[in-house]
Amino acid sequence: MRLAKPLAPGSTIGIFGGGQLGRMLALAAGQLGFKCHIFAPEEDSPAFQVSAAHTVAGYHDFAALETFAKKVDVVTYEFENVPSDTAAFLESQALLAPSSAALRTAQDRIDEKIFIAGLGIPVAPFAAVNSEADLHNAIARIGRPAVLKTRRFGYDGKGQTKIAADTSTGVAWAEIGKAPAILEGFISFNKEISVIAARGWGGVIAVYDVPENHHENHILKTSTVPAGISRATAEEAREVARTIIAALDYVGVMGIEMFVSGTKLIVNEFAPRVHNSGHWTQDACVVSQFEQHIRAICGWPLGSTERHSNVVMHNILGGESARWAEYGASARTGVHFYGKAEARRGRKMGHINVLTPRQG
Ligand SMILES: Nc1ncnc2c1ncn2[C@@H]1O[C@H](COP(=O)(O)OP(=O)(O)OP(=O)(O)O)[C@@H](O)[C@H]1O
Ligand SMILES: [Mg+2]
Repeated sequence: MRLAKPLAPGSTIGIFGGGQLGRMLALAAGQLGFKCHIFAPEEDSPAFQVSAAHTVAGYHDFAALETFAKKVDVVTYEFENVPSDTAAFLESQALLAPSSAALRTAQDRIDEKIFIAGLGIPVAPFAAVNSEADLHNAIARIGRPAVLKTRRFGYDGKGQTKIAADTSTGVAWAEIGKAPAILEGFISFNKEISVIAARGWGGVIAVYDVPENHHENHILKTSTVPAGISRATAEEAREVARTIIAALDYVGVMGIEMFVSGTKLIVNEFAPRVHNSGHWTQDACVVSQFEQHIRAICGWPLGSTERHSNVVMHNILGGESARWAEYGASARTGVHFYGKAEARRGRKMGHINVLTPRQG
């Protein structure tokens, strides 16, 4: 199903998933005059606090899904692990963006790599692994070091393990729970970057400037814009993003993670949703990634991706949230908290965007 005409303010957007991304989508939607209805299984979902309506139900509660679909004008999601039968059902009942087909490609690391490589875009060497014997053969072909990842359901580095010179195949295979997996050659990269891109129903594409991303303990810690890469590499990264988003006939915002290795770009993965490495757009751009996603799925013209400042986004993890007063007192700093009660170790509690005058 495609959108017949742009949705007017006052329409209702259904959001699947109630975490911080759903919350910030709802806040941006509210600014454009939309109402949001969040569907999530957890009673204390951060997005509920800022939305007009919510449904607490499981992702396989088809009666609840049907009722939800009837109440909204378009459905979107904030996480890529929406079960595929649930996405297909929603798509049969309502307008879903991004489509279940795009979601399916992103959910399986092997399908995703085959798709990207099929566009002529470099990815890490890879092999499917379904047993310890497969792992042995894959290492013989790809070499060490390598990274073993579950095909599905990984996030924040969970479900993956490095295969170093001396790692035993049995230990690595057990480590990822003997689940269907992918072995990837280890890319010795200079930098990790990402591209936040958006595409509307009519095929118009908008792409933001490129951030450079730093992880700590496998969790994104900072995104810095501009990235310390050449203008040519940044433009190439943006072009790669345009190619991927167009080939998927995608509607909405997508985050595409890449490695810069020498002068070469290698795509790691894409997320069919707004992305943590795009949070800086909230304070450094005219239109944030969240508003852009809402504009895209509601059939509005895409907004300007112009960046007016240099910016560093810092994720606030776990106990760092106790420093809220210090963040609040910082000059030229956009403060964003997600309304989560419990500051568990490594949990994403909020982020700040620290602005400096634009250079480059
Ligand atoms: N083939 C590789 N070579 C080198 N480093 C890698 C490779 N694959 C992953 N990494 C490192 O591990 C990190 C997490 O990997 P990946 O993005 O594939 O997993 P994820 O669980 O989806 O993580 P996230 O939720 O942070 O995106 C990457 O950002 C990168 O630093
Ligand atoms: Mg990643």
